[in-house]
Amino acid sequence: MAKDVIIALDFAGAEQALGFLDRFDGCGRKPFVKIGMELFYAAGNDMVREIKRRGHKIFLDLKLHDIPNTVKKAMAVLSGLDVDMCNLHAGGGSVMMKAALEGLTRADGTRPLLIAVTQLTSTSEQLMRDELLIARPLDETVMSYAQNAARSGLDGVVCSPLEAGKVHGVCGRNFLTVTPGIRFDDASKGDQVRVTTPALARELGSDYIVVGRPVTAADDPVAAYARCVKDFLGEEI
Ligand code: C5P
Repeated sequence: MAKDVIIALDFAGAEQALGFLDRFDGCGRKPFVKIGMELFYAAGNDMVREIKRRGHKIFLDLKLHDIPNTVKKAMAVLSGLDVDMCNLHAGGGSVMMKAALEGLTRADGTRPLLIAVTQLTSTSEQLMRDELLIARPLDETVMSYAQNAARSGLDGVVCSPLEAGKVHGVCGRNFLTVTPGIRFDDASKGDQVRVTTPALARELGSDYIVVGRPVTAADDPVAAYARCVKDFLGEEI
């Protein structure tokens, strides 16, 4: 099964993102990158195409959530950008998730991987109870959303490495876990609360680790990326 290290390109514009990627020229490995809302809304499709042209795999992290017909049509547009992974909110329900898969599937039958966000890590049990009127434990809703995503035919979920084993237990080993919250053990956590090293994420069964600031803010981003690749994938670059 494919496993990889995904660098979160959390930059405000194309110039910074592309300048950052220039540093990886000739390092022997093209990083898989994540483009989130900030960079996508600032730099749009042209930048996605440019990063693709340079040979990177792309996770387009736009977290779609709308009526099924709208999500289906929007996913068809994203699939046409030739990205490798997209996502949506499992909270949109199974009809929306199935419509998304239809929209993503290209004429030749190929499609990007489709990953669900369950409950955002910023959602607390108190918020669920007081504002969303969901009285069940957070963990139970996360696993239930993951199961809905799996039954709808999606490829995996975004979750903590600490939840990866449980997600695999509930949804099957082939259901992908894409896991942020990664830190080296000698670095600060920043605003992440529950963090895991690349090596521990590997032990816990994560399929993809998403690493932002430990690489993007490092003095030597290529060395920090190489450390992730070595610790998570066991590959020297
Ligand atoms: O800089 P850092 O490694 O914390 O970046 C993690 C990336 O993963 C960011 O792009 C963040 O938005 C994303 N993410 C996260 N936690 C989630 C979902 C996404 O950190 N639950």
